[in-house]
Amino acid sequence: MNIETIAVHAGKEIDPTTGAVMPPIHLSTTFVRASDGSYPSGYSYIRSDNPTRRALEEVLVALEAGVDAATFASGMAAIMAVFQALGTGDHVIIPDDIYFGTGKLVREIFAPWGLESTAVDMTDLAAVQAALRPNTKLIWIETPSNPLLKITDVAAVAALAHAAGAICACDSTWPTPMLQRTLALGADLSIHATTKYLGGHSDVLGGAIITKADNDFFARIRLIQRTGGAVPSPFDCWLTLRGIRTLPYRMRAHCENARKVAHFLANHDKVCKVHYPGLESHPGHAIAAKQMADFGGMLSFQVCPDKLHTGQENALRVANSTKLFAQATSLGGVESLIEHRYSVEGQGSKTPDNLLRVSVGLEHPDDLIADLAQALAATVTLM
Ligand SMILES: Cc1ncc(COP(=O)(O)O)c(C=O)c1O
Repeated sequence: MNIETIAVHAGKEIDPTTGAVMPPIHLSTTFVRASDGSYPSGYSYIRSDNPTRRALEEVLVALEAGVDAATFASGMAAIMAVFQALGTGDHVIIPDDIYFGTGKLVREIFAPWGLESTAVDMTDLAAVQAALRPNTKLIWIETPSNPLLKITDVAAVAALAHAAGAICACDSTWPTPMLQRTLALGADLSIHATTKYLGGHSDVLGGAIITKADNDFFARIRLIQRTGGAVPSPFDCWLTLRGIRTLPYRMRAHCENARKVAHFLANHDKVCKVHYPGLESHPGHAIAAKQMADFGGMLSFQVCPDKLHTGQENALRVANSTKLFAQATSLGGVESLIEHRYSVEGQGSKTPDNLLRVSVGLEHPDDLIADLAQALAATVTLM
């Protein structure tokens, strides 16, 4: 079946008691035991499993063509479960431009627990190879990366990981299963902040891990999910499911709008650089074209300095002057957002200080371009 059909039908059964076409939200925290002590429904207690969470996990398995999925209360909780499944003294390789929340997790929570890590440029396969150690258990990929939109070759890094006996995990939040078949490309685990495109409406927090194989590592992730209990509520699962039903069509429009915005910015004399893998000038364009169905709804751009202001000042002035683009963090919702990442990431940020990250929403692209045009015109005076 095609992904549009999977998104609409997976994990959906007509409710046998009421005939409801859309699935109910199961809020019950506990499920009845039979006289022999077994649980005839397969459910015992809400933290371990519940029908609404199971429906969401089934849809995610179908979308990613995996074998099982575990959902969490946030993207970070899902990411944390992957690192928690490793052992003290294990070594991981992470991208040097990893999402700053994941980097903080590795440095500030897992390093004190004895997890070793090396940050490398994931687009440089020789650097990845050189960073491998006998105790390397996992290579973490994030592609396209945040906020520079660097593209990692998933198949090539997964092959390096497997040759070294390590797992390859990929944060696929930005491409979604619609644009990148992460597991088919070779990764063992595909991770999502479902808060973003999968939920799709900036109104629900969640995370997910989908596995290609039913193995000991995923069994540990499941143990962490059920025992640690950083699980999504049934209502959050239901909202995420509702979002997924329209994911393929939303992603098409996000990509189409982002492509138009990127071309507008790339031809603007007050914009020094545009980071968007759909542009042929982007260093990762060829790999993105090979491994992605389209180039996504995220982009970033660097604003030029002028005779009165630095590039950073001008970037902030542009972000403060847009009317449709809300100046807010996050991504993947129907509304367009703009953000000065350097301010958000704070000390130690490698993000250029004149860079603005944009989540291109589902408004009409002409209106989005007009908004950016007026913000650039109002704030940046080149001569
Ligand atoms: C690529 C990526 N991974 C993970 C996360 C964390 O997700 P959450 O905010 O749901 O914990 C984010 C959040 O922005 C993200 O952009």
